[in-house]
Amino acid sequence: MRHESVLLQECVRYLDIDPSGIYVDGTLGMGGHAEAVLEKLGGGMLVGIDRDDRALAFSRERLARFGGKARLVKGSFGDLGQILDSLGIQKVNGMLFDLGVSSPQLDDKERGFSYMQDAPLDMRMDESAPLSARDVLNTYSEAELRSIFWRYGEERYAGRIAAAVVAARERGPVETTGQFVDIIRSTMPAAALREKQHPAKRCFQAVRIEVNDELGQLERMLDQAPDRLVRGGRLLVISFHSLEDRLVKEAIRKRENGCTCPPDFPVCTCGFVKTLRSVTRKPVVPDGEELAGNPRARSARLRIAEKV
Ligand SMILES: C[S@@+](CC[C@H](N)C(=O)[O-])C[C@H]1O[C@@H](n2cnc3c(N)ncnc32)[C@H](O)[C@@H]1O
Ligand SMILES: [Zn+2]
Repeated sequence: MRHESVLLQECVRYLDIDPSGIYVDGTLGMGGHAEAVLEKLGGGMLVGIDRDDRALAFSRERLARFGGKARLVKGSFGDLGQILDSLGIQKVNGMLFDLGVSSPQLDDKERGFSYMQDAPLDMRMDESAPLSARDVLNTYSEAELRSIFWRYGEERYAGRIAAAVVAARERGPVETTGQFVDIIRSTMPAAALREKQHPAKRCFQAVRIEVNDELGQLERMLDQAPDRLVRGGRLLVISFHSLEDRLVKEAIRKRENGCTCPPDFPVCTCGFVKTLRSVTRKPVVPDGEELAGNPRARSARLRIAEKV
């Protein structure tokens, strides 16, 4: 299993690591970012969270040499507060979230994340979770499917594709990623099929977001994270598409400048208290060298906020 950690040096730099501090990696994956953080720690500790058992098992081995300095936990970062409570941790010095799927998740065809390989429709990051892509495609109403393809995939042909899924499943359940790709292709005009982006990319993203409640978990994390940082502690989030990035940007903005007083008020009376400040004016993106070596980095955007 291989996974190139996106924006690795930038994350380490912006986390501004205190060797005796406590850090959270909320998307442990293959442990690349976690390892780089652990290497900077002296008396400190890293809490690594992932909801994928395979990722945890891999990282447990990779990070074994750090002993008790690495506390690895199975769970969703949406339960950040509870997870920290269960470890007896009130505040941490920094947090990192590298959203999306890992390369091993994508490459392991049995997991059904990829439109490039035919496999059972699964897409669960947590393989013990109850809802799979198969359930979504076979049990959701046409209106629900349309709304998911549209909102989570920004898929222009959402309506046609939803109707085609419903028509196809009347003949028998939709079981494989290959079937789903064929359904998507069959609804699209020839011109759309010739576009650079794979025709199934947007709908696969949409179903994956639904199956894993990705935006819901992200919102819950963003609600809890600021309270859990020490003053000066930093929150780093790497997102891979505009829906994620919008939530991150808005969560920072409303804590940085959420005053709702009319612009001509001499003093703020709305009760707004600033709790975060942006560390960089614009999101940090990979440089040319990283992009050349790692195509997955292409859409990555790192936002950094500091607790004030
Ligand atoms: C892009 S990978 C992280 C790679 C990691 N930074 C590295 O350097 O190896 C994203 C990981 O986050 C996990 N993940 C996604 N959403 C999650 C959530 N809500 N809670 C916990 N883990 C999540 C996925 O299972 C996946 O392993
Ligand atoms: Zn105000």
